[in-house]
Amino acid sequence: MQLEARPSGPLRGACVPPGDKSISHRALILGALAEGETQIAGLLEGADVLHTAGAMRALGAAPERVGEGAWRILGRGRLAAPDATIDCGNSGTGVRLIIGAAAGYPLAATFTGDDSLRRRPMLRILTPLELMGARFDAAEGGRLPLTLHGGAPNGGPLRAISYTLPVASAQVKSAILLAGLNAEGVTQILEPEPTRDHTERMLKGFGAALQIEGRAIRIAGGQRLHASSVRVPSDPSSAAFAIVAALIVPGSELRAENVLLNPTRTGLFQTLIDMGADLSIENRRDASGEEVGDIVARHSSLRGIVVPPERAPSMIDEYPILAVAAACAEGDTIMRGIAELRVKESDRIALMAKGLTACGASVEEEKDALIVHGTGAPPRGGAQIATGGDHRIAMSHLVLGLAAKEPVRIDEAGMIETSFPAFPAFMRALGADIS
Ligand code: S3P
Repeated sequence: MQLEARPSGPLRGACVPPGDKSISHRALILGALAEGETQIAGLLEGADVLHTAGAMRALGAAPERVGEGAWRILGRGRLAAPDATIDCGNSGTGVRLIIGAAAGYPLAATFTGDDSLRRRPMLRILTPLELMGARFDAAEGGRLPLTLHGGAPNGGPLRAISYTLPVASAQVKSAILLAGLNAEGVTQILEPEPTRDHTERMLKGFGAALQIEGRAIRIAGGQRLHASSVRVPSDPSSAAFAIVAALIVPGSELRAENVLLNPTRTGLFQTLIDMGADLSIENRRDASGEEVGDIVARHSSLRGIVVPPERAPSMIDEYPILAVAAACAEGDTIMRGIAELRVKESDRIALMAKGLTACGASVEEEKDALIVHGTGAPPRGGAQIATGGDHRIAMSHLVLGLAAKEPVRIDEAGMIETSFPAFPAFMRALGADIS
């Protein structure tokens, strides 16, 4: 299915973006590892998370949908061998965290995913998990499909390691922490930069003890998790599309409610404020150990800036939509230190450079950088965009189409299901012309 976004009148109103994808995956995984019944409210019911729910069922837990976004999951305090290959669809977070969680149990499990996921690097988790004693039969280059043989070769538990992450990755950190739950000794992870810490927070919510000291995180093996209840806040990475749309469409003012404001996730909002965006945060409060609040965004004149590279982990999924804001800003926006974008659901540096250029913007691509030369007015638009099967590339270009002079069409909208199934209707309710 194709979708087209046309130049729109002001976007107005209040909205509640869908549940946070990172927290949704973790709620299901920790619920499966825990003993007893975990209740989840506000779960993101996108394809990525539904694949994780299916994987947890295959590994012996019993997730059950009891209402819109309301789930319960009966955990058995351990994972069991699946009968069939586990398909994680498009989700790097799902597959990497689940492999980490399963690595501590004496089971064999085969994992696969869609074309995009089968191209993505898995050695980043296989290397530390092998150091802990797990074994893998993987496709060339350590890619999916792969079979995990969990536990240590002698049938005993994994051994704890001390590991410095070679890339700033919450997925790798989380995979090691989850494996560390079933390792002998204290597992230590050293992070080069702080990355999202939802696994650490949620492990504590499920009764585990963790020690966090600067960039070092330690977890002792042999801990049991106890069922909990999790309220999933709105995903800042999804809220970002509506917020940037309001900033670039004249006359707009909208309010995104209940948005996760964990400081490891708010880099985009800080960057937009640095660019001159009229953003304010109201009603800050706590939800299941995470800070949330309402974000009010009004149309703004944006100016280009140099985005601090050390901010990248706190906005890693938001560079595509930031590039759209940058294309509407006055002056150059320089985004460096973002090589990781090339190994996401698509090569996001290449696809944003291509898509924005097709829309009439002036963009330069470097190995680990994207530079957008803004003119102070939205680019022309009037192009059909190749999304490469990437949900964020799709939604970012649709947002651009709302502010451009001519419509922007995307070649394939199906992948939006992975993180934001209701996106077109959600944006239409705010006044966007998308169909
Ligand atoms: C995620 C971590 C990030 C992010 C992804 C979700 C997570 O990936 O891009 O969408 O939930 O841990 P990396 O940890 O690989 O950077």
